[in-house]
Amino acid sequence: MISHSGLTGKKPDVFNTDWKGVALREFFMTTTRVGFSVWTDGDLPEAQELWGNAAVTKYISANGNMTDEQIKQRLRREIETYTTYKIQYWPIYWLENTEFIGCCGLRPYNNEKNIVEIGFHIREKFWGKGIAYEASYAVIGYAFAVLKRAALFAGHNPNNIVSAHLLKKLGFSYTHDEFYQPTGLLHPSYLMTKQQFEEQKHSL
Ligand SMILES: CC(C)(COP(=O)(O)OP(=O)(O)OC[C@H]1O[C@@H](n2cnc3c(N)ncnc32)[C@H](O)[C@@H]1OP(=O)(O)O)[C@@H](O)C(=O)NCCC(=O)NCCS
Repeated sequence: MISHSGLTGKKPDVFNTDWKGVALREFFMTTTRVGFSVWTDGDLPEAQELWGNAAVTKYISANGNMTDEQIKQRLRREIETYTTYKIQYWPIYWLENTEFIGCCGLRPYNNEKNIVEIGFHIREKFWGKGIAYEASYAVIGYAFAVLKRAALFAGHNPNNIVSAHLLKKLGFSYTHDEFYQPTGLLHPSYLMTKQQFEEQKHSL
């Protein structure tokens, strides 16, 4: 089940504090197992936990890893993207214990055609549990139903066979290869229109 409170207006309060004084994340959207939040300046430890692991960055950066400075920049960029466009690769959490899982979300791709790009980076210890699929499916629904986007773009490193498999399983159709500056490679690229998503939902 997916539920969301909407993220179209002002930035929500990301933290609640319970009576013990423990900071709790506030989620604007949840799936069965995953809660979606918004990156803040205080999230550098989570960002390092995710992008500081070369197994995660193997296919998403030029030389396969990210320096501390690049991780800081990446966090800053996600926060700026949210400030400007109200989307980002949102940080996601395991609902059962609010453990940080990684990020999954959107970034601008083609504003004129109302197309945004989907992306997912999951911490290694959570791989293979269907989390990327579950979170991405929610993000796709959110992009069409709440944000009223016309289509979603996705691309992956040509060597990233798991991503290729995941995108096809989500219902993306291959369209072309596109140069991706951060890796310096031609990335297989995909599109999903709102109509394709609706048709796929009906056939499930
Ligand atoms: C790619 C990534 C997001 C997948 O996350 P995940 O939560 O493990 O994916 P899921 O568990 O939802 O699996 C999706 C599908 O891929 C398959 N899969 C997952 N890991 C796999 C592996 N190591 N080898 C083969 N297939 C794999 C799953 O079996 C599933 O397919 P199925 O339902 O047909 O069996 C994750 O490996 C990751 O974050 N990698 C590093 C960052 C990255 O490369 N992101 C993508 C950038 S385009």
